[in-house]
Amino acid sequence: MATASSVLQRTAPLYDRVKRVIPPIEWPAFAGDVDAILELKRRRNAVILAHNYQTPEIFHCVADLVGDSLALARKAMAVEAQVIVLAGVHFMAETAKLLNPGKTVLIPDLAAGCSLADSITPQDVRLMRQRYPGVPIVTYVNTSAAVKAESDICCTSGNARAIVESLGVRRVIMLPDEYLAQNIAAETDVEIIAWKGHCEVHERFTPEDIRQLREDNPGVTVLAHPECPPEVVAVADFSGSTAAMSDYVETRKPPRVVLMTECSMSDNVAVQHPEVEFIRPCNLCPHMKRITLGNIRQALELNRHEVTIDPALAGRARLAVERMLAI
Ligand code: 13P
Ligand code: SF4
Repeated sequence: MATASSVLQRTAPLYDRVKRVIPPIEWPAFAGDVDAILELKRRRNAVILAHNYQTPEIFHCVADLVGDSLALARKAMAVEAQVIVLAGVHFMAETAKLLNPGKTVLIPDLAAGCSLADSITPQDVRLMRQRYPGVPIVTYVNTSAAVKAESDICCTSGNARAIVESLGVRRVIMLPDEYLAQNIAAETDVEIIAWKGHCEVHERFTPEDIRQLREDNPGVTVLAHPECPPEVVAVADFSGSTAAMSDYVETRKPPRVVLMTECSMSDNVAVQHPEVEFIRPCNLCPHMKRITLGNIRQALELNRHEVTIDPALAGRARLAVERMLAI
């Protein structure tokens, strides 16, 4: 069906934001949903929180608040609207719900999971506590609320070192991302006991990828997410959360850059930095890509899928997140 010219006219300023990464021929397929979502947000007193890995038509055209996991948690705390749509994966929606128990939190696709969150259960955390009595448990936010409830404090890739060092102890358990734990261990004197979880997107990058990239693109600056294996981080120029990578490009303006992370990240940052050349080997996160304009629209139209958290564990999980946010 042809997109009405009135819709194209109304959404033209939004297309202008993303025209460097979305060809004009594709925009009419997005414009109708963008237009409808903007109206639904007004009608339902809703806001959309979008992670940095969301596609540009979501990130730049319908999202109200964007960022890395830490920024999304902080921004979720300050939301005044009654409805929050989380354009991201399930653990992010749960975190938003933990911080907004009285609001409606919707995730457009319930199957938007995370390999890290799937790598550990509450029972596993209890076993680690038994095995290492008295050692504090720092849990990455990429986990279920039930796992957070068994933890002492959460962290994200943006604050992991600060959280680990804030505890003032010699040893901590850091779950479930083995590579993040190893990358933080390389930066701190605190001994870190890790778990065997991995991000299915970042574990696929190799040092050989970086060597080849440097050979093919002389002078390229390589930024790697700390969920990448330590041998990848060791040969990158910088490692940090998705927000830290974005800030690096913003402040340092490298002429050529490659972001060793999920594919949409480069598109979203490139939109704001036409002067920077982005080299784009990347890996797709199949979970993040489950979120589309179509299911965001349906989430708002049909009030689905509402995120709920077992009250028996919500209080303890919230405490772990709030302890992190207090640091
Ligand atoms: P950030 O907190 O760095 O945005 O990372 C979240 C994530 O899922 C990375 O894979
Ligand atoms: Fe999980 Fe990795 Fe996808 Fe992030 S990119 S949501 S850590 S699977």
